[in-house]
Amino acid sequence: MAGITLENITEAVINHGDKGKTNPRLHQIYTSLVKHIHAFQKEVNLTTEELDIGRKFLFKLSVPNNDFPMGEIHLMTDCLGISEVSILLEDKGNHGTTEMNVEGPLFFAGLPERANGAKIGVDDTGKPLFVRHKFQDAQGKALANATVDVWQPNGEGNYFVQKENLPEWNYYARFHTDAKGELNFETVVPGDYPVPTSGPTGAMLEQLGRHGYRASHIHYIVRAQGHPDFTTMMYFNHSPYVNSDTIFSVKNFRVDIVKHDNTDAIKARGLNQPFYTLDYTFIIP
Ligand SMILES: [Fe+2]
Repeated sequence: MAGITLENITEAVINHGDKGKTNPRLHQIYTSLVKHIHAFQKEVNLTTEELDIGRKFLFKLSVPNNDFPMGEIHLMTDCLGISEVSILLEDKGNHGTTEMNVEGPLFFAGLPERANGAKIGVDDTGKPLFVRHKFQDAQGKALANATVDVWQPNGEGNYFVQKENLPEWNYYARFHTDAKGELNFETVVPGDYPVPTSGPTGAMLEQLGRHGYRASHIHYIVRAQGHPDFTTMMYFNHSPYVNSDTIFSVKNFRVDIVKHDNTDAIKARGLNQPFYTLDYTFIIP
């Protein structure tokens, strides 16, 4: 075999050993990854010093910190759009604006069952939001008795685990749709919030002049009989970050809320401030 050169090293790595013949999918992924990484090094003429900076950076990503007990590799894949590319590849469409999305790190098992129509949290300074949903399949058939998990931050953008003195399970709920596939609940307009930026991911965002904000959203997991579990996020058009979300997960699942400031309407709701309503029909693939 000829000596290793810049021209033949990629083929040499790919053909080393049995080429992963016992696992064709691994072979496909490994071959492509090696080709792309070598091409990237050649394109930017990566120096050994720069490679070492990269190695140290990857090591730092894997070290647990206060915000991420498993390290920040997941966050980094989110902020580089890698997580979203896989979602876009997997989501085959046919369900309108109800697009697939990532679960994110703040879903926890054991969230409390709440009655259809319930208020799902406490936030004295939040903007009251009354949500009315329908859940149906692609043919328009109502999804009765579907399990719907809902979670969101409060009006200031804090999930209950992120700030002291917030009630346990604040703005987390497990619901069941009624016989018409409907679900109503009372919440607050969720706040925009930044991803934790005290670690290496935050340092990268700062050096690139990127903000770390997620656009205001509510998370859902829908489990309906005869359908695969469906995980998504619903975004709000009024968010200043809706076109620059830091994990690139805002697609067409964006909704508008309607403000109500009529005195009689406010009184009828038992409130003393304007409130908001939202109507949205989910189409579950
Ligand atoms: Fe979130």
